[in-house]
Amino acid sequence: MFTLAAVPEERYMHSLRTAEMAQKLCKLYNVDADRGYLAGIGHDMCKNMNSHLLLMLAGRDGKQISALEKERPSLLHGRAAAVKMREDFGIMDQDILQAVACHTFGGENLCPLAKILYVADKIEPGRDYITNDYLEKLFRLDIDSLALTVVEENVGFLKKRKRPIAPETLLFLDSLKKEIKSDRDCKKKRD
Ligand SMILES: [Fe+2]
Ligand SMILES: [Fe+2]
Repeated sequence: MFTLAAVPEERYMHSLRTAEMAQKLCKLYNVDADRGYLAGIGHDMCKNMNSHLLLMLAGRDGKQISALEKERPSLLHGRAAAVKMREDFGIMDQDILQAVACHTFGGENLCPLAKILYVADKIEPGRDYITNDYLEKLFRLDIDSLALTVVEENVGFLKKRKRPIAPETLLFLDSLKKEIKSDRDCKKKRD
């Protein structure tokens, strides 16, 4: 069934800024920038869908719907958008689909594009806490440290507001820490 995805102007502008930020990060970390832009443009296309449609679309990706997602179907907008991009727009690039599906929670062993989209969504310049100094500091980091910094800030924000933290986000944190440690160990061995 074809479902129309429509977003208000504000959300569309956020998507444009996320796409531009994802494109910039792709260039910085040697990932195809066009794929970054496409993932950014599409990531929130289901954000304004009703719960029924979100549950129906996301349920087609073959993964379980968690208790938290059942309780708050809006959290499924990334998974729903990935299904829509595949089924209605014919996008088969697995990295783009993973990036869009995982942009809300993150996840374990994500591809570089998925790490980039997760970050771009949180640091696009329309967010009120984003300053040039902050961005400059972030852009000096390697891709895993960049993602770790942004996920840690996001978890801190959720804890402060006593909001639930998805298990996928905790797995994302662990997975990034492991990747950073293994990179450091490799470098030590080489030195
Ligand atoms: Fe989103
Ligand atoms: Fe977003």
